[in-house]
Amino acid sequence: MDKLVIRGGNPLLGTIRVSGAKNAALPCMAAALLTEEPVILENIPQVRDIQTTRNLLAAMGAEVELGYGRAQHRTTIQCKNLAAPEASYELVKTMRASTLVLGPLVARCGSARVSLPGGCAIGARPIDLHIKGLERLGAKITQDHGYVEASSPRLKGAEIVFDKITVTGTEDLLMAATLADGETVMQNCAREPEVADLADLLNKMGAKIEGAGTPTIRVQGVAKLHGARHRIIPDRIEAGTFIIAGALTGGDLNIANCEPSHLGALLRKLEETGVKTVTSGDSIRVMGDAPFRAADMVTEEYPGFPTDMQAQYMALATQAEGTSVVTENIFENRFMHAQELVRMGANIKIEGRRAIVRGKTPLSAAAVLASDLRASASLVLAALVADGETIIDRVYHLDRGYENIEEKLRGVGAQIRRIGEMIPPRNRRVTDRSAHGQTV
Ligand code: EPZ
Repeated sequence: MDKLVIRGGNPLLGTIRVSGAKNAALPCMAAALLTEEPVILENIPQVRDIQTTRNLLAAMGAEVELGYGRAQHRTTIQCKNLAAPEASYELVKTMRASTLVLGPLVARCGSARVSLPGGCAIGARPIDLHIKGLERLGAKITQDHGYVEASSPRLKGAEIVFDKITVTGTEDLLMAATLADGETVMQNCAREPEVADLADLLNKMGAKIEGAGTPTIRVQGVAKLHGARHRIIPDRIEAGTFIIAGALTGGDLNIANCEPSHLGALLRKLEETGVKTVTSGDSIRVMGDAPFRAADMVTEEYPGFPTDMQAQYMALATQAEGTSVVTENIFENRFMHAQELVRMGANIKIEGRRAIVRGKTPLSAAAVLASDLRASASLVLAALVADGETIIDRVYHLDRGYENIEEKLRGVGAQIRRIGEMIPPRNRRVTDRSAHGQTV
């Protein structure tokens, strides 16, 4: 199992390029199920979740070409004959977002069999709202042996009101509604930029969607969708992670190829703590001159402060003068990183959904354990300022959502290296030509 070894103390100086957004690429790859024509997606990040989604689609019978050559970072997906419209437990248990195939499969094939995702480190992660929405569209749903089966000769447009705001729930049902008979109006939708990016792709494929990115989305169903080419938006969470890295290390870091308008809540919160950032075009420059001031933070659905940046913000809060109260409103168990930060010297007390962070406390290197994707990022940030050499184990969590993070950080002066048996596949051209994905 790979580990990252990081020696703290170096200010990060120079430019880091942000990759495409994993959480936009995943639904966009699932959208290819809605047509038998090729869908070409560019700016695809080279991360594990993309490989998992490629395997998932190939197992259904899709042809998936995925290349990361210099000019590429591109995937071409063609779902001509979907011999097996299902997502097995083996695949879904490694990536909950596999449930994004549920809506497209029912809409395209008239049936779907998808393993229930089960919980994960950060919470129960149910998909009851996805299921309720599909039932509203006329799908017949059964659940047994850990699988959900959905079927409908043709979905029918309907009114859907989400009891809770759900990102992949909004995306799943948005995809299903594009091929339904008649109009679908969805209320209380997620407004994340990744939802709007998916809608952008679907409209390029011939869908008729209005209001994506707002709480109310209207979809006029069509009979068929066609292929399209689409460039995935930059990853706002990767960008936010590197902004905090630049601030924490007292560096002068330029985050290039990002979309500053997706980072409003984070930039406002960082300004409260005294972190200086300058935005120009698709770049954000961060100059870290401590001391930082403590500032309370509450995670909310977009455009509020993103839960996917909560762990990274907590690392910054350990270096701020004063007490910061971090409140996690989205997931019930997303403080796993706190105990690891405490082992490095942080002063954090957990009280239900609140973490009370008292700073500034010097951090010292330790052997720590990554528990989930964003907790791992928080430990990397802490290690960049800790005294000594930190070893982070189970970095496969990090590889799910950060492309070549050690190369990117080393390129701006971090002392970071990976040890272990496996280096992520690089520039390997992988083409699946059959339902069982004989990679070539
Ligand atoms: C998406 O997960 C993201 N994943 C998550 O990013 C992100 O943390 C989350 O949205 C919140 O922004 C992808 O986009 C692939 P939700 P998702 O449905 O859609 C409850 C990362 O680090 N809920 O918006 O699964 C749920 O339990 C990952 O990149 C139901 O109760 O999250 C949670 O409390 C982690 N029933 C809340 O809603 C449902 O049917 C929000 O979850 C669905 C969700």
